[in-house]
Amino acid sequence: MANKYFKQKNGILLAGNVNVLTLVKEYGTPLYVYDLEIIRQQYETLKRSIPSNVKIFYAIKANPNLSVCSFLCSLGAKAEVASAGELYIALKAGFKGKDIVYNGPGKTDEDIQYAIQSSIHTINVESMDELYRLDAIAKNEHRPVRVCIRVNPIHTVTKVKMQTGGGSQKFGIDEEKIETIIKTALSLDWIELLGIHVYVGSQILDHGVLLENIENTLKIAVRAAKQFGLPIRCLNFGGGLGVPYNETEPELNVEHFGNGLTALINKMSQEYGLSETRFVLEPGRFIVSDAGIFLTKVISVKESRGKKYAIVDGGINHAFLPIRMNKKYPTAIANKMNQPNEGSVVIGGPLCTSMDVFTNEVELPHVEINDIISIFNSGAYGFSASLLYFLSAPMPAEVIVQNGKHFVARRRGRKEDLLLNCDVE
Ligand SMILES: Cc1ncc(COP(=O)(O)O)c(C=O)c1O
Repeated sequence: MANKYFKQKNGILLAGNVNVLTLVKEYGTPLYVYDLEIIRQQYETLKRSIPSNVKIFYAIKANPNLSVCSFLCSLGAKAEVASAGELYIALKAGFKGKDIVYNGPGKTDEDIQYAIQSSIHTINVESMDELYRLDAIAKNEHRPVRVCIRVNPIHTVTKVKMQTGGGSQKFGIDEEKIETIIKTALSLDWIELLGIHVYVGSQILDHGVLLENIENTLKIAVRAAKQFGLPIRCLNFGGGLGVPYNETEPELNVEHFGNGLTALINKMSQEYGLSETRFVLEPGRFIVSDAGIFLTKVISVKESRGKKYAIVDGGINHAFLPIRMNKKYPTAIANKMNQPNEGSVVIGGPLCTSMDVFTNEVELPHVEINDIISIFNSGAYGFSASLLYFLSAPMPAEVIVQNGKHFVARRRGRKEDLLLNCDVE
């Protein structure tokens, strides 16, 4: 199977014990399907493995579907947001302000005001001018604001494409400059400085790499505490826990990660008192990626100069996944799960750009018009990271499955939506 969580019966792919052809018949294509039980497994596996003083703040950007967010809230997760829109979704999903952290290098005054009014857990401050704006807006609101300073570390260990820490970055404050911002934060009346935040990159599969970066974060915090009086009431280690996208990629060893994290925190606690510290992890992809599939129907099959093409009704405007990760995405024909592979096929969407290709060449059974292609690992950065209005195609629907039941969590978009907020005669 193209994803360990999904099964088939009589050659038809099942999602949450529901025959996906039933879903296609009821909700149409292109269609996102999310299995809540897979989300539960991923969340609980992580929670079980990490120490109890490390809290999981789900990064909503990975999948902001309201039903997905509410489900994670019901499991006890907290939330990480990176825009006022995500903050709005988080609050609507049931997360309490005190359980939400806010990141982002370009927060507007309105974003900051909304976050302060929502009494969120912490705002991670990313520049000196943002710190002054936070202080001024907090003063105006008569509410002190709790902040962590987002640090761009000198040393990072990552072997990933999407790096957000180390080198020159638009994110955070360079480590070598943190003295000034810490001292300023401590001097401002409406700023309550709690600690630091470091997030170095996404899709890290090696627990050793994650732990090396966390150790570095702990060291930066303890050094800054001793030298500049940084309080360490909150230490935020960011997200970045990865998932395998094909058989050649290893699974992240969550148990080893958790054991290593416990050991690191214990070791550092001997050097500096961390018993009152709240530790934060902000995973997105790890929690929701495996839980999602993207279903799209074959509209046309053809050959061009030795390559076979299946053109489908969903494009990178609905699922921008492979382009961002540059992967051969795990793919199958949902109605031919027990048929042998016949040869390699390029799966391309309907958009007028050669970027609009899901897999360069994937081995599939005989592919025909009306077949349903399933793209696995679509639960994270699928709907939310897609070019949803590119070439004016309505948004795909999103469906939740769980233990044999299903419901629509976001209705399919309509042509009329494309002119929303325009004056139309
Ligand atoms: C600040 C921050 N935290 C957490 C995440 C979630 O990362 P991931 O999905 O790799 O866990 C991101 C992703 O961009 C981020 O920017």
